[in-house]
Amino acid sequence: MRKWLIAAAAAAVFMAPGAVMAQQPLIIKFSHVVSPDAPKGKAALKFKELAEKYTDGKVKVEVYPNSSLYKDKEELEALQLGSVQLLAPSISKFGPLGVKEYDVFDLPYLMVDDARARAVYDSPILAEMGHKLDAKGVHPLAYWDNGAHVYTCNKPLITPEDFRGLKMRIQGSKVLDAVARELGAIPQIMAFSELYQALQTGVVDGEDNVPSNILTQKFYEVQKDLTVSYHGRLTYSLITNKKFWDGLPADVRPGLDRAVKESTEFFNETAAKDNTDALEKIKASGKIEVHVQTPEEKQAWIKKLMPVHKEMQSRFGKDFIDQIYKASGFTPAS
Ligand code: LMR
Repeated sequence: MRKWLIAAAAAAVFMAPGAVMAQQPLIIKFSHVVSPDAPKGKAALKFKELAEKYTDGKVKVEVYPNSSLYKDKEELEALQLGSVQLLAPSISKFGPLGVKEYDVFDLPYLMVDDARARAVYDSPILAEMGHKLDAKGVHPLAYWDNGAHVYTCNKPLITPEDFRGLKMRIQGSKVLDAVARELGAIPQIMAFSELYQALQTGVVDGEDNVPSNILTQKFYEVQKDLTVSYHGRLTYSLITNKKFWDGLPADVRPGLDRAVKESTEFFNETAAKDNTDALEKIKASGKIEVHVQTPEEKQAWIKKLMPVHKEMQSRFGKDFIDQIYKASGFTPAS
């Protein structure tokens, strides 16, 4: 009897941690900087739902929206350190990772055609560029296309000359810096989480973004004018810590791959509709003047901004830019 008790107690001590461990789900922290109601916020929650379902609860995804965990630059560092496992930043923010090539997609008017833009994200060029991120410990799982940018400002932006002397918030991309300078504005890199207050207090005069961000962050309440210019594009990459992803247990990998694929499809469908709806809601709010460019105004902006393409040849190399033109079907206007 005593022997049996000792054996049972030993088994309990030996078994208990293992038994508990077998039930512990693998935690994936997914941090992002936008509202849970923005397309990225919704897609992050969709990923959580699908990942948990397809792995039968072996994975638990914790989503942290609105920069509640990390701001733009910090989240990239946290991913490299493995403190967070998933992010979906704008690819215009990859400079600090030491991979400059992604800025090329900010060349003005390059990615105006939605279908072509999607084709570029699926092209071998992007797969090739992904290896550069891999070398930095960051693995791109997918690209999420959030459509074209409009400008907001505290004054009407009708002609390129209207930008002169304005302080414009930009994301970290060197191309966006060149665009602002070409327009005669003063570019200021700023984290997304600081933008509302900066617009409200006049630290910056304006910014460019997609309508769904302008709506969900309430930028339209602290800006007087919006110009529907569609001059650039906002693309996210769903990125993970490479070591973490490579080391995933075999029984959760297929479920997570499926969740990535399906949440990407969900994102692309959601974003297009949300941005159209958001622009209507912003107009209907009556809180901001919305100006839709005439074809002549658009041509004047294109003419003004084309020199940025030439200027950036020295940064990216002409061959690389030509490859991107080919993939996107873009022909630079002279
Ligand atoms: C911005 O910083 O303006 C956007 O890229 C934020 C986002 O992630 O949509």
